[in-house]
Amino acid sequence: MSSSLLTAPVAQVLDDLFADAERQQAKMAGNLKVAQEESLTPFERFSRIKDSYMPIDRPFGNLLYSLIRSTGARTVVEFGTSFGISTIYLAAAVRDNGAGQVITSEFIEEKAAKAKDNLTRAGLADCVDFRVGDAIETLAQPLPGSVDLLFLDGDKGTYLPILQLLEPHMKPGCLVVSDNTDLPVLTTGGDKPNSGHEISLRS
Ligand SMILES: C[S@@+](CC[C@H](N)C(=O)[O-])C[C@H]1O[C@@H](n2cnc3c(N)ncnc32)[C@H](O)[C@@H]1O
Repeated sequence: MSSSLLTAPVAQVLDDLFADAERQQAKMAGNLKVAQEESLTPFERFSRIKDSYMPIDRPFGNLLYSLIRSTGARTVVEFGTSFGISTIYLAAAVRDNGAGQVITSEFIEEKAAKAKDNLTRAGLADCVDFRVGDAIETLAQPLPGSVDLLFLDGDKGTYLPILQLLEPHMKPGCLVVSDNTDLPVLTTGGDKPNSGHEISLRS
């Protein structure tokens, strides 16, 4: 099975983005603490750390890619684009499946614009529908088909409303993959708090 993750331009763009995210991580550590203030709305919190990638790691990206390839998923919805690292894994998988689309959502406009640039550099932008604004609103707009896989990686308090919004559009067998959960059904995140990943199947 050939994978566009391993070849140019996707491999190069992922290398560049992970290197940039790593350089930035030390700089951002203090800001991430500020952003945890409970009085802030999710938009205010994420706006304070708008330069932060907060990306999935490579093993988890490879898992997302493999789930989409092995199930033949065509319509994939992502909650939480950031700068598009996870979106690259999702879009590469959909394209390697032969057809389909990733619908991804981000409420920080500058991040969505950078994600679009990154997906364009990776040659994958034509497989992605970028929805800018609060996902609760943007993902309520029509989808191109029934959802095969939903990836939750935005504000944790909004996972349930997003799930309830999309549930009527999920195919039987739709996979729901969540990052930053307290329930590490499957984890590549070591023993860090909130670093578990959960995978559920819609019956
Ligand atoms: C953990 S980061 C996503 C990381 C990305 N999936 C990756 O692996 O590269 C979470 C992102 O979700 C966005 N976000 C959080 N709540 C949102 C909402 N209600 N609507 C749209 N975007 C949201 C934040 O601005 C942030 O960029």
